[in-house]
Amino acid sequence: VFDPIRTGNIIVDPDTYLDEKMYHELLTKIRHEEPLLWVEPKGYRPFWVVSKYADIKEIGGAPSKFLNRPRSFLLTKTEEDQIFAATGEYVATRSVIQVDGMEHRLLRQVTQSWFQPDTIRKLEVLIRQIAQEFVDKLAANPGVVDFVNDIALWYPLRVIMLILGLPPEDAPWLLSVTQQNFNSNDPDTDSAPGLEGILDAQQKVAEYFSPIIKSYRAYPKDNVASVIANAKINDRYLTDLEMISYYLTLVTAGHDTTSSTVAGAMLALLQNPEQLAQLQDDTSLLGRSAVDEFLRWVTPIKHFFRTATEDYPLGGKMVHAGENLMMCYPSANRDEDVYEDPFSFRVDRKPNRQFAFGYGAHVCLGQHLAKLELRIFYEELLPRIKKISLAGPPVLFRANFVQGLKRLLIDIVVDS
Ligand code: HEM
Repeated sequence: VFDPIRTGNIIVDPDTYLDEKMYHELLTKIRHEEPLLWVEPKGYRPFWVVSKYADIKEIGGAPSKFLNRPRSFLLTKTEEDQIFAATGEYVATRSVIQVDGMEHRLLRQVTQSWFQPDTIRKLEVLIRQIAQEFVDKLAANPGVVDFVNDIALWYPLRVIMLILGLPPEDAPWLLSVTQQNFNSNDPDTDSAPGLEGILDAQQKVAEYFSPIIKSYRAYPKDNVASVIANAKINDRYLTDLEMISYYLTLVTAGHDTTSSTVAGAMLALLQNPEQLAQLQDDTSLLGRSAVDEFLRWVTPIKHFFRTATEDYPLGGKMVHAGENLMMCYPSANRDEDVYEDPFSFRVDRKPNRQFAFGYGAHVCLGQHLAKLELRIFYEELLPRIKKISLAGPPVLFRANFVQGLKRLLIDIVVDS
């Protein structure tokens, strides 16, 4: 039996996510004993912990019964109340991930065609050039590197900037703003957590994009920032808040998650040398199974929330209208009912219906892009590796929402 306060405190504590073994042991116990678990963590509004793949899928498949507004991810009660006092709502932005129904459909449609497999595939050559640039950087600096801060953080950021049509030299600035927006609880990021950090990041992004919006309205271009600037919903341009939320969402969602997966995959390969060898022998496994296994293994988004609109029986319990549910994606991705031997990392795992991108109306808009980026990067890197090993203990970010490696020292020699 789980104590709702004690277990809740563990689930919300960013320290929990620093110890993946402990996190997974707890979630495995929850999956086995009480797959839908009510928790009341101190300082937070209470919620259901949803731990099973099938239950999370069912929630994602019923978007009119489980809404993304007003609670989309974990904030403290104080932070939520501050946001409410400042904006009259419990969420500060109106991004695709934070709206529902028709509003969501229309907003998503604005950029959807840009993220379809066919469109994304046309970018393959340009994305490969960016990947090569980073592998070349490794080749030019043989020896110990911090794979997170030298490579993994930058590559997906540069790709999303390419799609948005932003100049590569703005990358360091954008990185600092997105880290701030993610409300990381880590003492090493220079972010002001909570409302202050989020609103401040929003303000900075608004100032950055304001002249860009003006220039693209005057001279539209073939990129996503221009598409958003010129989009009309019901004969009106998007509001400033809608546009800024969109840019912020694409920049943040578009890089942090993917960089965590690029880095987490590297760690998994180094910890499982026989899997690395197998992949080096046959890089075609990347597109066939390994990239999905990277995503399943890392699952950089630890949760999203939904709010029930009506009483709904789920996982043997009754969820009441108005109650919130935390969908624990890493738990879905270790569900014994779905995966054989879920705690082993296998680059040839088939089938692999990994759940890192969620499910349903809100399923990750950038999923094809993210998979392409992962495949291309490792296609470029793996054949050129002459020597590689871990060069220090990996360090994780302290965060309970989007999380991954903060530092990964590796000793690497790459063919030039
Ligand atoms: C490894 C990389 C990524 C992971 C693990 C990931 C994961 C997710 C998840 C779990 C969701 C929520 C799904 C749901 O609520 O059912 C989501 C939504 C979203 N993702 Fe990703 N994502 C990744 C990369 C990207 C990229 C590269 C982009 C760039 C365009 C992106 C853009 C979005 C957007 C816009 C949404 C909101 C979609 C909506 O609400 O309709 N993501 N992502």
